[in-house]
Amino acid sequence: MATQGYEAAYRESIEHPDTFWRRAAERIEWITPPSTILDDANPPLYRWFTGATLNTCFNALDRHVRDGRGDQPALIHDSPVTGTKQTLTYADLLARVSTFAGALASLGVEKGDRVVVYMPMVPEAVVAMLACARLGAVHSVVFGGFAPAELAARIEDAQPRVVLAASCGIEPNRVVEYKPMLDAALDRSSHKPESVIVLQREQAHAAVGERDTDWEEMDWDELVSDAEPADCVEVAATDPLYILYTSGTTGRPKGIVRDNGGHAVALRWSMDHIYGIDPGDVWFTASDVGWVVGHSYIVYAPLLTGATTVLYEGKPVGTPDAGAFWRVIAEHRVRAMFTAPTAYRAIKRDDPDGELLRQHDISSLETVFLAGERLDPDTYEWASSMLGVPVVDNWWQTETGWPIAANLRGLEPMPIKAGSPSVPVPGYAVEILDETGSPVPAGQEGAICLRLPMPPGTLPTLWGDDERYVAGYLSAFPGYYLTGDGGFVDEDGYLYVMGRTDDVLNVAGHRLSTGSMEAALAGHPDVAECAVIGVADELKGQLPRGFVVLKGGIDASGEAGERIRAELVKRVRDEVGAVAALRQVDIVAGLPKTRSGKILRRTMREIADGKTPTVPATIEDASVLDRLAPVLRPGG
Ligand code: COA
Ligand code: AMP
Repeated sequence: MATQGYEAAYRESIEHPDTFWRRAAERIEWITPPSTILDDANPPLYRWFTGATLNTCFNALDRHVRDGRGDQPALIHDSPVTGTKQTLTYADLLARVSTFAGALASLGVEKGDRVVVYMPMVPEAVVAMLACARLGAVHSVVFGGFAPAELAARIEDAQPRVVLAASCGIEPNRVVEYKPMLDAALDRSSHKPESVIVLQREQAHAAVGERDTDWEEMDWDELVSDAEPADCVEVAATDPLYILYTSGTTGRPKGIVRDNGGHAVALRWSMDHIYGIDPGDVWFTASDVGWVVGHSYIVYAPLLTGATTVLYEGKPVGTPDAGAFWRVIAEHRVRAMFTAPTAYRAIKRDDPDGELLRQHDISSLETVFLAGERLDPDTYEWASSMLGVPVVDNWWQTETGWPIAANLRGLEPMPIKAGSPSVPVPGYAVEILDETGSPVPAGQEGAICLRLPMPPGTLPTLWGDDERYVAGYLSAFPGYYLTGDGGFVDEDGYLYVMGRTDDVLNVAGHRLSTGSMEAALAGHPDVAECAVIGVADELKGQLPRGFVVLKGGIDASGEAGERIRAELVKRVRDEVGAVAALRQVDIVAGLPKTRSGKILRRTMREIADGKTPTVPATIEDASVLDRLAPVLRPGG
């Protein structure tokens, strides 16, 4: 528990980072303990704990079994979509992970090799991640809702030796077969793995080893049946633990690198200081292992802490109803839960008066944490009055891996202000800058930036591309990391995050790229040019809308137009994935542009959201915007 208050901890973390993080590092078991804490030899790239060595899996599993937690549940798989529940103790999970690590080693997987994991919310996904960590291999989990092209882009960039997949994921309305999507992705990718391992699920059996391929294909059970358990491999604190791809504005995803040492230290610190969770507590994060929230707070942080994590394979509503979260909390005696605001908006829509809530005993629940998108005041008010516990917003991103701003429940709980994720977390020097890079006064909006160095656990770079990291994040304002979010700080030092300043979309807490959707639309033979924007949506925060200009001479009237629009929607679903949720594409006469040809997406978005648009003086032809406005406006 905390020995300092917020002010003292924050000041020390910024003024004396070495002292602060050296102490935090004592809670991790090292093979070679750190002597260097912050390594600032190569700015603007910083590293933490250079020279120290450890194994993340050892810290997540072995040490807890050794210290007497072997019989404590480590992971509860609660799966309303299959009607099954399964509890794995720390000893069970360790046995499964070491055997699977042995199986991976038998395929030749070694320290530094990449392993792509394309799996839904099943225990084997967690086993796969930890088995990689055990061997010092680098996992890259790809969200199951992504289509082959997105999976292929990740395989191409990560160059995995092995790909692990499940035969299917289960959505409330359908079984999603993964193997055909994986086959299509491997056909597209110029990099081919050596082995593909498929976990067969009874809802869909995948054809394995029946195609003529250059790589070996095998069933998971077959591979594991004669594997010998493998031990932990010593890795450097600065060695990569995983790569997680995230969306930028262009179609090419960015490989966020996470190191071993800084990650373990920061996540362990966050669990009690931010989330108030101690060893032995039950913690429930409803997200997906394919997102950073899943990596950090379904898998690594709770296990590094010796807590019990609930792996929930279901939805907030429809599996079977809006009482699903309350059932999970009651049944497993959950102390705190974490999800995205969208999930609560969906519950509110289906059960506004909390009738289903009253059917469950949620007295174990002390706090709800929400992140992934802005927590709007209405949802905040509804959730806190319904549940009667603090509802705590926290703001961060894939790049940082853990919260930048939060109300630190274990360090020093503060009054909550609706619409604000509260204050900067120790380690993060948050500043709001104007376009010239000067800090703005309280209350004034600007670009939210983090003064370098960022704390342990944040990205050291992009996979194989220091240059892109520096160009994309560190060059706008030298000495700062650009978060891509805009916002302000109030007189009390509370941060307000108002949204992205770039064209990144946030649909139901899922980060998506306008660029990938535009590439899918542009690939249609009839399309001359296109734009995708995110418009405000009551349930999902944002929804994408597409606008296309057709090539000359193409008939867009009546049924022909209908057909093209349907084909365009399908293309995005097939190329990016169902999760893109693009349902509306309009065929328009022109797109508003600057004189240099840049499409004015922001202006379009403002009109679509019913705001007063900012029209730059550099607009090429203002009449294009006038003609487009009626289509853009809500209900247009
Ligand atoms: N694999 C395959 N398809 C998936 C998928 C997955 N893992 N996850 C979602 N999809 C599909 C859905 O089936 C849906 O397909 P459909 O068009 O055939 O209906 C589509 O992608 C959109 O899914 P989703 O965003 O889940 O929307 P929804 O309307 O089905 O459900 C919510 C709305 C609010 C219930 C849902 O978005 C939700 O649970 N949100 C929580 C967000 C969250 O956990 N974010 C993680 C970051 S913290
Ligand atoms: P991701 O990398 O997928 O976690 O998405 C990160 C982005 O989601 C951030 O840059 C924000 O735009 C948005 N986001 C995440 N959490 C919050 C929050 N608590 N408040 C406002 N926006 C958020």
